Amino acid sequence: MPAPLTILGLESSCDDTAAAVVRAEAGRMPEILSNVVIGQDALHAAFGGVVPEIAARAHAEKIDLAVERALSEAGIALRGADAIAVTAGPGLIGGVLAGVMCAKGLAAGTGLPLIGVNHLAGHALTPRLTDGLAFPYLVLLVSGGHCQYLIAEAPDRFSRLGGTIDDAPGEAFDKVARLLGLGQPGGPAVERAAAAGDPARFDLPRPLLDRPGCDLSFSGLKTAVLRARDGLVAAQGGLREADRADLCAAFQAAVAAVLAEKSRRALARYLDLAPDAPAFAVAGGVAANGLLRAALGDVAADAGVRFVAPPLALCTDNAAMIAWAGLELFRAGHRDGLDLAARPRWPLDTESAPLIGAGRKGPKA
Ligand code: KG4
Ligand code: ZN
Repeated sequence: MPAPLTILGLESSCDDTAAAVVRAEAGRMPEILSNVVIGQDALHAAFGGVVPEIAARAHAEKIDLAVERALSEAGIALRGADAIAVTAGPGLIGGVLAGVMCAKGLAAGTGLPLIGVNHLAGHALTPRLTDGLAFPYLVLLVSGGHCQYLIAEAPDRFSRLGGTIDDAPGEAFDKVARLLGLGQPGGPAVERAAAAGDPARFDLPRPLLDRPGCDLSFSGLKTAVLRARDGLVAAQGGLREADRADLCAAFQAAVAAVLAEKSRRALARYLDLAPDAPAFAVAGGVAANGLLRAALGDVAADAGVRFVAPPLALCTDNAAMIAWAGLELFRAGHRDGLDLAARPRWPLDTESAPLIGAGRKGPKA
């Protein structure tokens, strides 16, 4: 029986400096021994979004501390790890570099193997860490910078069925929050406001539903919210609490409806592969949204497919997912040299046609 594997993971591709230790043993569910996330919200709050230079500097300052804490909480020494996994892209290049340089230093100093991990693969493989899903499964990755349907076939093999052609949903949530004077990050703020709202008061569009396939678009929806807001301001001189709530509810309902319908289509294509244990998973920060989780769960239930939504702390950016993806790659024989490159762009599926403009404006992944 193979020996247990213990992997240290580092993540610094956006605005969370994170380190974690994950252990896996044959025949058992993997264990997260530690999962340290040092956020940067306070540093970026005054700017209404992530400032890449500030993020990079903060990562460089804090990544050692995150590693030290992760090792100490896991109760292992650095040499107790079997390998070091690090996000090597895609993301804000200054931040990715901070993590990659740190991981290279640790690998050079200890002689431990180094494994570069695609951040998106980290998100997409999380349902195997949390729920032991078997390949192939369908995963919807919805975050602040990405939105795509992937069939996960192996730790390093994903095929994309479709994705956003403009904004990512998280980005749209953040912009809608800004338009309505709500705080950042916008997703939780919009969800809270929507709880008291009437989703039927505003008739917002359902972009791309009239087009076949699984591609998505969110920028028109955001513009529709802007127009509705401006109409209200012109008519009554400002926004009332109820207006904000109703607009948030209508926006959230539109996002959930579009993603539910596209998920139906993606599931139909996935089921054509006749998987033995069909499963549909959702990953990324927007997967924290209660209405969306419920809508996707219903779609999966209608198709007779298992639905998996990992716990919120593993949906948002973290290093446990990087350690886990590194562990899977290590098992499959992957190793990187000290020439590992930090990559601002790194599509998961290099064979499907690139999506025009996708994730262009969103630094988050
Ligand atoms: O995965 P994540 O932590 O960072 C990356 O994008 O990689 O996702 C952050 C995004 C933000 O845009 C945030 O507004 C959104 O996820 N988000 C939500 C909710 N919680 C976070 N969107 C909708 N509803 C939520 N409850
Ligand atoms: Zn992410």
